[in-house]
Amino acid sequence: MKGRVEIIVGTQWGDEGKGRVVDAMAHTVDVVARYQGGANAGHTVMVEGEKYVFHLLPSGMLYSGKTCVIGNGVVIDSQQLLDELTDLQERGKDRARLVISGAAHVVMPYHKKLDSMEERLRGSRKKIGTTHRGIGPCYMDKVNRCGIRVEDLLCEDALREKLSFNLEIKNMYLTRIYGEEPLAFGEIFEQAWSWGQRLKPYVGDASLTIFEALERGSNVLFEGAQGTLLDLDHGTYPFVTSSSPVAGGACVGAGLGPSLVGRVTGVVKAYNTRVGEGPFPTELKEELGETLRERGGEFGATTGRPRRCGWLDLVALKYAVRINGIHALALTKLDVLSGFEAIPVCTGYRSDEGEDLPYKGNSVFLDSVEPVYRNMEGWKMDLGACRDFQDLPRPARDYIRFIEEQTGVPIVLVGVGPSRDQTIVMGL
Ligand code: GDP
Ligand code: IMO
Ligand code: MG
Repeated sequence: MKGRVEIIVGTQWGDEGKGRVVDAMAHTVDVVARYQGGANAGHTVMVEGEKYVFHLLPSGMLYSGKTCVIGNGVVIDSQQLLDELTDLQERGKDRARLVISGAAHVVMPYHKKLDSMEERLRGSRKKIGTTHRGIGPCYMDKVNRCGIRVEDLLCEDALREKLSFNLEIKNMYLTRIYGEEPLAFGEIFEQAWSWGQRLKPYVGDASLTIFEALERGSNVLFEGAQGTLLDLDHGTYPFVTSSSPVAGGACVGAGLGPSLVGRVTGVVKAYNTRVGEGPFPTELKEELGETLRERGGEFGATTGRPRRCGWLDLVALKYAVRINGIHALALTKLDVLSGFEAIPVCTGYRSDEGEDLPYKGNSVFLDSVEPVYRNMEGWKMDLGACRDFQDLPRPARDYIRFIEEQTGVPIVLVGVGPSRDQTIVMGL
């Protein structure tokens, strides 16, 4: 194959800065593709003081001449997608060609409702802390083989039949289990039909689009949403999302053979954050966590919820390197660590008995481990204007080198601020 495939994947619990890394790398490719997740994602790109938050559109949309693909593995909130397109059009930034897989599933109003109802039922003790975007229920229908796909929105008979079957069951759940009002067929049908008519120009064969681009010698970038520790199989189950954000998910979620993948780049934030419930061994629950949140602006791009913050966890990062087969790392938000006297980094997990423990993707295990820290020297300098590795203060360079040494993976890009130009490229 003449073209090259690269996958950008989150190594933590999402919000690592994947959007900005994809934006920084998009000029090297012709196609940018999403392969999983849905509007639970919020990918922020800052260009010339303008902020763009992508939930469903790939973060390559700002470049003219590119093709942006939404693969079959994505679950599509049609209204959200149309709103994002309108917003870009109004800002004169809908520059890329968009191709949406007909096989992608559609998030229906009942999915969102059921997501919220289920969370309510789980109660504050057992809830997952989902984004309430209907992600879990939509993937449930996909796996259960009763989901509605984008292609169904274009066929009146199929839509009518599938929607009426689904509504019959969903209304039973809503009324009998959750004590809610039933949803009316007519209104949802009209809405879904109109989504289909508006999305029609973009619907195509996503897998073939990618394959033909590679055959022509075009490079393709896959943009993961969420992160490794939120992966349905490899994350901190059950506090995970319902898709496969790991690199392997790109092949299934876009219809690509694994032998075509050239490089996997992991995005890692210089510290850890998490939105929603679940284990977080290095979490800072007191003032320091608050400080990181304030300095890093750690509030969800999708829900606005404050993100839980803590120190970088190298045990979990090494796990992400293994699970994804990561070749290179992009380190973001290093600038946020300026001003700390010392920066602890978790290099190991210990049991109550003082035994060293390897990573296990098990929530009960992760709740019980005691992180072992190595204190790295802090720095005072504002890094926002650094554009070269040598511009960084020595302790910041040591921080980078330490991560490389511990993971055995080179860091090829460092983020020193949210803007497109606040990037140090170290050998992309
Ligand atoms: P994503 O979901 O992985 O794309 O990440 P989000 O967009 O949800 O969250 C990352 C946040 O950090 C956004 O507000 C970005 O603008 C911001 N960001 C990304 N990289 C950097 C960086 O290097 N420095 C700073 N200060 N902010 C960054
Ligand atoms: P990006 O792509 C951070 C979290 C939710 C919750 C769990 C399950 O911006 O990195 P879901 O709605 O998917 O069923 O919620 O996953 N979550 C994210 N956290 N960034 C995201 O996306 C997330 N998408 C889902 O907070 O804990
Ligand atoms: Mg995000």
